[in-house]
Amino acid sequence: MGGRRISIQIKMMLLVAATTTLMISLLVYYNVNSLSNSVREAYVSQLNGITTAINAEYEESHSISKIQQVFDYIASKNQRILRLTLHGMQGQVLASTDRDLIGDLVTPEILDYLRRDLTVITRAEDGDDNVPKVRIYAPFKEDGNSIGAIELLLNSKDEVDLIAKRGWWIASVGVAVSLLYMVALMLIIRRLLVRPLMNLRSAAVSVRQGLPFTNIELNASQEINEVAEAFNGMVTQLEDRYRQLKQAQASLVRQEKMVALGQLVAGVAHEINTPVGVGVTAATYLREQTKLFGDNFRSGTMKKSHLEQYLAAAQETVEMLETNLGRASELIRSFKQVAVDQSNEAKRNFQVGRYIEEVLFSLRPSFRQTNLDVSVDYGEDVEIYNDPGVISQIVTNLVMNSMKHAYEPGEKGRLTFVMRANAGWATLEYRDDGKGMPQEIVDHIFDPFFTTKRGEGGTGLGLHIVYNLVSQSLRGNIECTSQVGQGSKFTIQFPTGQEDEYA
Ligand SMILES: Nc1ncnc2c1ncn2[C@@H]1O[C@H](COP(=O)(O)OP(=O)(O)OP(=O)(O)O)[C@@H](O)[C@H]1O
Ligand SMILES: [Mg+2]
Repeated sequence: MGGRRISIQIKMMLLVAATTTLMISLLVYYNVNSLSNSVREAYVSQLNGITTAINAEYEESHSISKIQQVFDYIASKNQRILRLTLHGMQGQVLASTDRDLIGDLVTPEILDYLRRDLTVITRAEDGDDNVPKVRIYAPFKEDGNSIGAIELLLNSKDEVDLIAKRGWWIASVGVAVSLLYMVALMLIIRRLLVRPLMNLRSAAVSVRQGLPFTNIELNASQEINEVAEAFNGMVTQLEDRYRQLKQAQASLVRQEKMVALGQLVAGVAHEINTPVGVGVTAATYLREQTKLFGDNFRSGTMKKSHLEQYLAAAQETVEMLETNLGRASELIRSFKQVAVDQSNEAKRNFQVGRYIEEVLFSLRPSFRQTNLDVSVDYGEDVEIYNDPGVISQIVTNLVMNSMKHAYEPGEKGRLTFVMRANAGWATLEYRDDGKGMPQEIVDHIFDPFFTTKRGEGGTGLGLHIVYNLVSQSLRGNIECTSQVGQGSKFTIQFPTGQEDEYA
């Protein structure tokens, strides 16, 4: 069915309106009809009375003028009788209260009635006076044989009015009763159907919006109560499953954390091993040189060149120690960031979109030597309660990665953040239009120590930190899609509401 759907309520109303209209019409028709029949009977019996009287008179006197007298008498006594006429078998008028008609011939239809010996009622034209009239014919008999017909022209205004009045009255009462009936029905439908359905609907809507659910209590008819119960059951089931899923997820996260921790420790050991090893070698070398220098000094064989050689070695070793210890301490600093700081102290309410703008503003110095353009589009901003440092680290890492990995020096490029919020979740999308990466790299970019820039200042911890921040601090998820030559896209989704809603 196309187009707009009609509500149940309106459909029922239309049905009721149609049936009551039909019923009222039938009632009016039946009543008017039976009333008309009684009126006809009354007319006929009135004429029969007159006919009997005239027949008796005629059989006694055999005088038409006597009949004329009786006609005049009856008509003068009854105002509703407009005309009384006696027709002969050939249709000629023998006597009439209207003297002008005497001797006239009448219409052939009357002859037809006469021959068939019938009592007939027909409507007469209203005429100039606009008064409704009926014409009644009855056979005029002598010794049981028809010898003519008596025609009675009667003012039927009273009966016509009565019938019309009765019809209107029944119709009005019918309409009033059916209106009452419809209002009552509407209220009943409201109570039984529409209101419970609306309650169900708003419950479904609030579940969809993720609002806390309380069982629907309907005091409605059995079928609807069953639907409500089924609905309650379904939502309870869903909530249970959701809770189980959350628990499973939490334990999975714990396990994953342990695995990640193990990997991290191995990575840390491996990474630190190099600078520390170099440092140890350098220190050993310096100790040997110092011993040599001491031996020379004590044996008195020291030359100027020995001193110069030792000074050069000491200088070189210290420099080496400095760089390698510096490297080690830098590594340790980034390891510390991996263990995401979960302190509540830095948490506050802030607008994510606005905050991203601020972070990008503070990164301006890094953009100076590049040809890159960065923008943020956040439509309707979302407010969250969290440590803004989380957002700042995520944004900084993503932007710095694009700068470092996606473009050649001086290459033109466009970096965009787009944030949208819907039904308690925010989606933050970050894109660059740089080199992109093959799938083998995309599969590992969130792993700790995964870098394609080892030895060029990359530790491979940046995106691992981002991953931890998103999943632990924001309680969301991050995904990366990329193709060589097509740039990269990072999609971050996180809840914007109270984080412990279901926990
Ligand atoms: N926008 C990007 N375009 C192309 N490659 C990227 C992009 N972002 C990350 N990568 C790739 O993912 C790898 C891992 O990134 P990650 O930030 O974890 O480490 P890193 O940048 O190499 O080192 P760190 O961030 O620790 O200094 C990078 O070495 C790089 O190969
Ligand atoms: Mg990085």
